[in-house]
Amino acid sequence: MRAAHTYRMDSSLPRILILGAHGGLGRALTRHLAPRFEVTAWTRAELDVTDARAIASRLAAQPFDVLLNTSGITRPDDCEEHPERARVVNAEAPRHLARACRIKGARLIHFSTGYVFDGESRRMWAEDDPAVPVNCYGRTKLEGELAVLAEHPGALVARVTWLFGPDKDSHPDQMIARALHAAEIRAADDTTSSPTFTQDLCVWIEHLITHHPQACGLLHLCNSGSTSWHGWAQAALEIAADCGAPLRTTRVTPAPLSSVVSFKARRPPHTGLLTDRFTQITGLTPRPWREALADHIASKQRLICAAAE
Ligand SMILES: NC(=O)c1ccc[n+]([C@@H]2O[C@H](COP(=O)([O-])OP(=O)(O)OC[C@H]3O[C@@H](n4cnc5c(N)ncnc54)[C@H](OP(=O)(O)O)[C@@H]3O)[C@@H](O)[C@H]2O)c1
Repeated sequence: MRAAHTYRMDSSLPRILILGAHGGLGRALTRHLAPRFEVTAWTRAELDVTDARAIASRLAAQPFDVLLNTSGITRPDDCEEHPERARVVNAEAPRHLARACRIKGARLIHFSTGYVFDGESRRMWAEDDPAVPVNCYGRTKLEGELAVLAEHPGALVARVTWLFGPDKDSHPDQMIARALHAAEIRAADDTTSSPTFTQDLCVWIEHLITHHPQACGLLHLCNSGSTSWHGWAQAALEIAADCGAPLRTTRVTPAPLSSVVSFKARRPPHTGLLTDRFTQITGLTPRPWREALADHIASKQRLICAAAE
């Protein structure tokens, strides 16, 4: 799919601009929304969000009603290694985007993360729980949230967690790929969150755009329930095996997070999110993460089997 492209015209519908169009969520949103709205999708090549002047001029010139900002430095270890780049992209750029949207009278839906919480409590987190990040990614994302809401009180900041979907390999895809060839699979059982299927997230965002144009502030969006990386991997292998994938093992060995020696950034241990506010606003209840995972794996069954050959 070409990203720098405007899809379809229908003057009665809001015009949507997507940033971060080459990312996992940017691609999913572009594909889902393009048949329904007039969608323009920009990659970093079309708008580098580190350029504040370019943000102001490009957004002033571009006709749109809703901006979806999926751009970001999203790998915690990259943020830890390049804190200034992370600050500019995750905190400063959203501020400039929010200002440009407010001036234009456009809506902004900005994506953030459950990693704004310290994760020390095992309970699920609500929007008004105190955000105390433990790493550079979380700190810069929180700074971005606060900047967006200060610049544009009508903006919506959607916190999401542990994304998976067809556009970018994530933990369950990697575990399945490994189990096609390896007899032992390990995953951390002491860090938990709420896996979120990007296809479901696209439906919720479409619903918020279409039916709740006034929804603003912080909003948690994820599939229901929570699990550990171990539980997520275990479910993925069981579902893949049921779909006929020739795995060498369907058993995942639990391991502590501290055994992943390659991590540079500390991970908050427990970042499962409550979505009650989303349900209050929309009447929708996100389905359980395992059900969504089963759909994801079933849809890529042929690819998984081809990778085994
Ligand atoms: N993935 C997850 O599990 C997860 C969890 C919680 C929250 N989130 C949040 O959800 C959002 C989307 O995540 P994702 O997984 O789709 O991220 P992603 O795949 O890493 O995509 C992020 C996109 O941002 C772009 N970008 C980076 N620097 C830029 C710049 N200076 N100017 C313009 N674009 C730039 C990247 O462009 P290039 O392709 O050119 O590098 C990339 O396409 C992010 O806000 C992230 O913090 C994600």
